[in-house]
Order: sequence, then structure tokens, then C-alpha cells
Amino acid sequence: MVDIAERPTGIRSYRGLREWLERVQSIGELRAVKGATWQEDIGRVAEMLTHTDGAPAVLFDEIPGYPRGHRVLVNSNGEPRRLAVTLGLDPDISTEGLMDWFEHRMDAMEPMPVRYVDSGPVLENVDEGEDVNVLKFPAPFWHKEDGGRYIGTGCVDITKDPDSDWVNTGTYRVMVHDEKRVGLYISPGKHGRIHRDKYFARGEALPVVIVVGGDPVFFIASSLEIGVGVSEFEWVGGLRGEPIEAIRGRHTGLPIPAHAEIVLEGFAYPNNKLMEGPFGEWTGYYASGSREEPVVDVKAVYYRNDPIILGAPPNKPPYEAHRYRIYLRSALLRREIRLAGVPDVTAAWCHGVGGCRLLNAVAIKQRYPGHARQALHVASQCRAGAYLGRIVVVVDDDVDVTDLDEVMWAVCTRSDPERSIDIIKRAWSGPLDPAIPPDQKGFNSRLLIDACRPWEWRDQFPPAIGPDPVYKRETREKWGWILRGDEPA
Ligand SMILES: Cc1cc2nc3c(=O)[nH]c(=O)nc-3n(C[C@H](O)[C@H](O)[C@H](O)COP(=O)(O)O)c2cc1C
Repeated sequence: MVDIAERPTGIRSYRGLREWLERVQSIGELRAVKGATWQEDIGRVAEMLTHTDGAPAVLFDEIPGYPRGHRVLVNSNGEPRRLAVTLGLDPDISTEGLMDWFEHRMDAMEPMPVRYVDSGPVLENVDEGEDVNVLKFPAPFWHKEDGGRYIGTGCVDITKDPDSDWVNTGTYRVMVHDEKRVGLYISPGKHGRIHRDKYFARGEALPVVIVVGGDPVFFIASSLEIGVGVSEFEWVGGLRGEPIEAIRGRHTGLPIPAHAEIVLEGFAYPNNKLMEGPFGEWTGYYASGSREEPVVDVKAVYYRNDPIILGAPPNKPPYEAHRYRIYLRSALLRREIRLAGVPDVTAAWCHGVGGCRLLNAVAIKQRYPGHARQALHVASQCRAGAYLGRIVVVVDDDVDVTDLDEVMWAVCTRSDPERSIDIIKRAWSGPLDPAIPPDQKGFNSRLLIDACRPWEWRDQFPPAIGPDPVYKRETREKWGWILRGDEPA
């Protein structure tokens, strides 16, 4: 574990996407591409990048039909070195170091209130009334069967709880309907949906601000399961060690990051709906099809000169969001299980193939009868693991949870179905679940597999050959140069 005192607190923090691009350029992980079309090419390339190890971030410019400078960025956090830049860390930090830092930082940090300012780059252009035109920006068609252009994928949707001061941000997809209207899809149970439902139940409009191009760290915070009542703005401020600068939206009063690229501000009204979707989703399907969803009437568009859309189109898992969530959601999961009082959780891993939700593995050092079942049930129902999960496996600490072969080896050799399996029924799922029939979506069940050595006769269980995760890492540190073909340092 990294000593929290030695952690480089926010010293490499940056302001906005432009500074982030400079840093990523300086580590050689940014490519510029000209002439790709919004109708097809950008979506195609995004898929290729997200499914290729080592792929760069790509900034599309000179998109046919749009002025030079109206750009789209994809694959921003698809590699750990860029994720480190986003978090303000040294790009060369190990992924274990990054996860330890993240977990400890969350334990140690205090959320930091937003610093409101009167001006910022996002005010370089403000279109209101007749001038509002969302089609001004080159929102791509990301997948072949999408029902429309999606301007919001790597977006940050800001709403406020009508009953308190809680301002939440979530990444909820945004489809373009026409110049002045966009569609907003929020799954049941998400914080923005709870806010929305409260307003609608009172017959009131939901005020909303949607950042469709901005600082990648906001996107990361928005797309992670941060606790109820916590503002992700304050959370990012705490993570960085300096407050986020925001202006107040002219129509909603909601905070708008001062360095954002493109921001839509408007209202969704209770009975104003249009068909939304289909959209290629993170499970690898167009599973939620199309259905009527609330429409946001856009009252103002704020944007920088030469604005950039931050794209993060879902694709078959693992895609870009899974490539960074593998580290961050795994760290969140390990922390939440620990905070729920389960001792000796040595590792947790949200496997990319399951979209970091459908297949999670936890390792424990077994201390008492029932310890394994406790870890399993908490892992499947805590905030980081509850939504649209499917399979959770618990293993002993000699198994490397990051290695699917090892996890399945433990399942194959240490579990016995009659003793090792629990099923939880009627758990939190939603419209995106491909395995649930269209008319029954909402609930799903969970398979919990105890693949630890059986507690009662663990001492007679045959010794495993190994290596355990520590031994395995040491071997790779010392002898990995043979695989890489370079010389020992
Ligand atoms: C690229 C991307 C797109 C997403 N799209 C949606 C979406 O359309 N609707 C939704 O409910 N969640 C979506 N999510 C997941 C949420 O952002 C995530 O569950 C987040 O924790 C929600 O914030 P909340 O916990 O404050 O509700 C998306 C995540 C990513 C990374």
C-alpha cells in the first residue's frame, strides 16, 4: 500500500480539458485525426480504439459539415497512464499504486465546496432563445443501429435534490432530438433519476445542466457510484485538494464548471416525452430498445471557442469506461466492503468482460465461519456492486482476483455447488439488462459463489502449488524483462 503521506496531493492538477490535452500530448498519447465523418467514421474509430490495448486518445477535427475547431475527443481515459494524468498523478505510477492512492484518498479527503466565480472560458459564447442550436456541434452517430445522434456520452449531468442542497452529477446519455431539444435517459435508482422523480411527482420541471465536453475528471466522478448526498463537484475538489471553480447557470442557478467546453442548460417537464434510443449500451447490446423518455428544453448553450465534445460511447465490454473503472470501481468496491465491517478483504476486482458490474471477484483472508458469505452478500449489495450485477465470487487471498483464469480455477476446484452457491432474488437491475424479458425488466437475480477453501476442513484441503499474488508479482518484477525482451535494469 502507498503511504498516504507520500501521496502527491493534487500537485499535478490541471484546469479543464485543454490543459489535460497538453499533458496527454506531452506523454505521447494523443493523436489528431482530420476529416472523419460524424455519421460513421468517428463511431467506428472509437470502437477500434477502445478494443485495442495501448490505443491513444484521438481528437477529431475538420469534421465534414462543421467548422474547423469544432472537435470530438474519444478514448480519453482508455489507458492507465492517461487515467493517472486525469487524477493528477505521475503517468508512470503502477496500477496497484493508483488503486491504493485512490482508496486512501477517499478515506482521507474532505469534500471541498465549489468556488463560485463570475467568469470563465465557458462564457466565451452563450446562445439563448432563438439562437439555441444543439446541432451546431458535431455529435456523432456512434453505433449502426442508434436511434439518433448522441451528444452526451462522456457527459456530466447536473441536478439538485429539491428537498436539500445536494447537487449531484451523473453520466446519463443525451440524444439530440432537434435544435432545441435533447432526450435524457436515466436508469431507475440513479441519483439523477431520484431527483427527477421528486420534481415530476410534484408536477414541477427538473432543472438540469449537461456538460457534454469538459474536464475528464468530472466525467470519471460522474460515472462512478459516489454516495447518496455527496456532490461530485465537492468530491472532485477534495480529491484534487483545491475547489472546483464554477459559474451559476443563468436559468437554473446550478453550478457550471468554469472551464467546461460545451454546456446545455434547460428543463425537463413531467409530461413532455419523446422516443429515446435505441443506443448501443455497455452490455454490448441495444438492450433497452427505444421508449418514451423526458425531453430537455434547452434554454442556453454555453461554449468555448473551438469547442470539444468529450465522447465515451459504450461498446461491447470492456470499452473505455471499463478500462478505467477496472481500477477505480474495484478500489471503491474493496473500500465499501471494508467500510461495511468485513475484515481482511485483501482484494476486489470488477472484471472488464462483465462491464465492471456483471462479474466481480473478492479475495479475503478467512478468519471465521461465515466470513466468506458475509463478503459475498455485501459485495453484491453495496453501492459499488448493487446495480445490474450478476455474478460475485469470493476466493481465498492466495488467488489473484484480477486473473479470470485463477478465479475460475478456484471456482472449479474449491466450490461444490450444493454447498457453495447462494442466489439473491429481486435485486436492482433495470431496462439495460439483456437477460431479462422486455416486459419484466426492473429486477434480476444474483449468483454468489463461495470459492474459498471450506472453512470446516480448510486445514486438510490440498496445498495449492501457487504462486500467490505477491509471489507472482515479485516474479514478474524480477524476471518480467524476459517476456518484454529488454535487459534487466
Ligand atoms: C459512458 C457512460 C454512459 C452512461 N450512460 C448512462 C445512462 O445513459 N443512464 C444511466 O442511468 N447511467 C449511465 N451511466 C452510468 C452512470 O453514470 C453511473 O451509474 C453513475 O454512478 C451515476 O451517477 P449517480 O450514482 O450519481 O446516479 C453511464 C456511464 C458511462 C461511463
